[in-house]
Amino acid sequence: MKEKELYEAAARMRKMAYCPYSRFSVGAAVLTDSGKVYTGCNIENASYPAGICAERTAISKAVSEGEKHITVIAIAGGPEGEDGIYTPPCGICRQVMAEFGGASLKIVLKKDGELVSYSLAELLPESFSL
Ligand code: THU
Repeated sequence: MKEKELYEAAARMRKMAYCPYSRFSVGAAVLTDSGKVYTGCNIENASYPAGICAERTAISKAVSEGEKHITVIAIAGGPEGEDGIYTPPCGICRQVMAEFGGASLKIVLKKDGELVSYSLAELLPESFSL
């Protein structure tokens, strides 16, 4: 699975986003150890903190199917109905990525029209774990 294909899967998922409050749609796609891809979108709620980000939706889908380790995650986000803009993951999602991907997890984003990738160690240094 190429980074570009994973990013495209994330970008397609933006159409599924439920984001009537922010009007900011996000899609994510994760690649697991077994080579499967799980996708997710952000799902908001009238009680704002009850909403969930696209990254955690995708990771939750993978884990709930028995996949406890991810190697790559691609994230696409932007104003609903418009092209994607640079959308680095929020802090809570970075912590969840640490749980199921670890320091070497690759994070694929689009920046200025080009795919860029980071390790989780770069985006979440000195992370907490038990
Ligand atoms: N959002 C994500 O889905 N992922 C992120 O990493 C950042 C933010 C969502 C949450 C909310 O539905 C909307 O984007 C605006 O914050």
